[in-house]
Order: sequence, then structure tokens, then C-alpha cells
Amino acid sequence: MPDLPNGPHGKWRTTWGIIQNPRRLFNKCVQQFGDPFLMRAINGNVVVTDRPDLVEQIFRADPDTFSVFASEGIRPILGAGSLLMMEGPPHRAERKRVAPPLHGDRMKAYGEAMQSIALATGRNYSDGREFTGIRLGTEISLDVILQTVLGADSNQLMNEFRHSTRGVLDRSLPILFFSPKTQFSLLGFSPMDRLRVVQAKLREQIKQEVQRRGDSIHSREDILSILARPTESDPEIDFEHLADSIGTLLFAGHETTAVSIAWSLYHLHRNPDWLDKLRAELDQCDMSPESLAAMPLLRAIVQETLRLNPIVTEVLRTLTRPMELGGYRLPTGFSIAAASCLTHYDESIYASPETFDPGRFIDRTYTPSQYYPFGGGNRRCVGAAFATYELAIVLGTLVHNYRFELLDKVPVVPRRRNVTMGPSTGVRMRIIPN
Ligand code: HEM
Repeated sequence: MPDLPNGPHGKWRTTWGIIQNPRRLFNKCVQQFGDPFLMRAINGNVVVTDRPDLVEQIFRADPDTFSVFASEGIRPILGAGSLLMMEGPPHRAERKRVAPPLHGDRMKAYGEAMQSIALATGRNYSDGREFTGIRLGTEISLDVILQTVLGADSNQLMNEFRHSTRGVLDRSLPILFFSPKTQFSLLGFSPMDRLRVVQAKLREQIKQEVQRRGDSIHSREDILSILARPTESDPEIDFEHLADSIGTLLFAGHETTAVSIAWSLYHLHRNPDWLDKLRAELDQCDMSPESLAAMPLLRAIVQETLRLNPIVTEVLRTLTRPMELGGYRLPTGFSIAAASCLTHYDESIYASPETFDPGRFIDRTYTPSQYYPFGGGNRRCVGAAFATYELAIVLGTLVHNYRFELLDKVPVVPRRRNVTMGPSTGVRMRIIPN
């Protein structure tokens, strides 16, 4: 059995291709080298596949087969206490603590807030001025996640955290995630120095907020209070760890959803037939958050948007032991990637894959290795249920209450934002005033 598949040479060129347009590069590689193929990038050697049988093998493997991808490059940015960086038993324990507010009845309790935030944000843009779907989506999803994670009970608290969370995101340049070499310090002016300043501010705010809450953290149900509670293994609050953890949830919990809101508005307004069908469905709905989240077409539109535009284009893991994959014997230290941006366009699974067709999700389901916008296995997105719930409520509320006009007249394409990919123009729109 050969050790490694073939792939392109030239680390920097390959890395640039992944930053610019992973789908185009991966497609070329499959054609030239077969599936799986090898990417030699500046953050490591990665064997990429889009074959559902191999994706299934990756998602079903013993979690100890893997460690976090490119952790030495990403850990300095997200911090060792970020769920995305944790491994083994501490990772499992942290997921158990974070998950309950993001599922079931506790999640549904946020439905009304999601709806009223969407309504109020739409109202702010109802004067006919131009805006981007990303901006609208960000304002909505940031407020939703702040309320969920912080249980924010005052406007002042919301304002402070809005500002600092956006600051961190705005300064998270893509290149910082790809190469530790770019994380140098230069008299306070390098990209990493500038990121550190806003991160320190957010950390301090988190610490002050926990101290302000005092004993009430024991009775509150928000994620910040839950994670700040002492445990048997950690009787004292570790503010560094807590700030890493909260920072990741704020970041992962709103950027992705914001981008999805923008893409869904884009696809609906490029495909007015589906928009009309959605309006007809919403006319039959009592518009309660719970009912919205159960609307078949609305749910299918959310799923189809995430199929066409997976926000994270590949799911990455690094091998802690050798693994046989697709006829190759991959060594420890190599990484593997399940490329959703290719699997989601596999013609043998999805007919006319380039077409926006939510109908393919009605009365039909796909296996976790055919459709995986939220990743898979033991690291599958902990916010997946929450995000799907939020997207249906927000999109349904916006479309039912406002008439949008898409101002982008040419196709919008995916472009790198940081670890995520988003629409190149942000999706330029306006709300047609009543
Ligand atoms: C449309 C919205 C979202 C998308 C497309 C998305 C996608 C993803 C993906 C692809 C992963 C990596 C999974 C893997 O490695 O197998 C991930 C991980 C994660 N996501 Fe999401 N996500 C979304 C929303 C959210 C929300 C709302 C939250 C929090 C409330 C969240 C929190 C996280 C966290 C903490 C992880 C790390 C999980 C771990 O390593 O154990 N995400 N997400």
C-alpha cells in the first residue's frame, strides 16, 4: 500500500489557493491527482477527500486518532481554553457544560428574542438605504449570541460586548490563522499586536462581568455563568480559560450565522420562485418562533443554503497515530480534511448541484457524510441545533415582514473572511419602504 497520495507542489502557492478559493483548487486537484489527494500547505500536509465513504470513516474514527489541526498556529489566537483547541477528557467535559443551553427547551427559550431582534434590526434598515446582508445578519446574530452566552440583561452590557466582539473579529485577519510566522510583534503596530489589544479588552470585560455577578452565577442559566461556576477539578475560576471559552463561543456563534443569513437572502432573491413559495408558506404560519422553526420549506431553504455555501469549507483533523484512508497509509502528524465544499456538489448525491433547489431537502434526508455543514464526529459543531433554529426564525421573520431588493446584479461568489468563507460583496440589498 502506498504511503501518500499525489498532490500539487509549492507550499505558498497552495496556501494562497486555499485562502482564495478552496473549492476551485480542490476540484482541480481531484481531477489531476484523484481522491484523496495531498495538499502541502504552510500550516502542514493535509490529505483531502470528498468521498462520503472516507468522510464517514473520518467521522466514525476513535476521537483519540486525532488532535486539533494546526493548533500551534491557531492556539495563540483563540487561547488554550477555547473549545476549538481543547482535546481528550477536558474537551468532552467542556462540551457537556456548554451544550445544554444550546439544545431543547433551553434553546427554544431564546426563540422570542431571536424574532424580536430580527424584527427590530430590519426596522432600522426600513428607510430604503443600501446595506449588506452580512451587516444585517451580523447585527442580528451578534445580539442573539450575546443574549444567549451572557444572558445580557442591560443595554449597556450589550453595547460594551457588541463593540469588543466586533473589534476582535475585524482584526482577525485570515493570514494570522494560516501561519504562526505572521503572528509577530512590532511596537504595537503588527496585525497580531492590534488583535491582542482588542482581545485584552474583551477578556477584561468578561472578568469584570463575572466579578459583578458574584454569587448569582450559581442560579443564572446563561453560558457565562455556567462556565464561571467552580467544579470539583477547578474550584477557583480560571479567568484566562473562561475568556478563551467565551471568546470562541461569541466568535463561532455569530460570524457563521451572520454569513448564512446573508447567503439565504441572496439565494432567495436570485430565485424569486422560491421566494414566492416561501411567502405562501409563511402566510399559513402563525409566525410563532416554534411554528417558524417547523416550516418545511423554510427549513429546507436553510439547509440548501448551507449545502451551496458551507461557511467552513473543510473539516480538519491531525493524526495522532497512522491511519489507512482510501488505500494510503497516512503517517502520524499528517492532517486530513473532509471537504464539504466538494461533497456538497457531488452529482451522484445532488442532481444539478449548482442550482439552488430547496426541494431536494423536502421529504429527503442525507447521511452525515453526504451533508456536513456543521462538521462531524466528536467535534461536530456544538451550536448546530441552535444555529438551524435561529436561521429559520430570523429568515422567516425578515421575509414575512419586509420586502428586500437585491442590488447585486451579477452573481456573488464565496470569498475568504477569516477561517470562514462569505459572499464577495456582502450581498448588497435594500428594504423597499412601505
Ligand atoms: C450556520 C452556523 C454555523 C455553522 C455553519 C457552523 C459550523 C461549524 C463547523 C464546520 C465546525 C467544526 C466541526 C468539526 O470540526 O467537525 C464548528 C465547530 C464549532 N462551532 Fe459552529 N457553526 C455554526 C454556528 C455555531 C453557533 C451558533 C455556535 C455557538 C452557539 C457554534 C459554536 C461552535 C463551537 C464551540 C465549535 C467547536 C466544537 C468542538 O471543537 O468541539 N457554532 N462549527
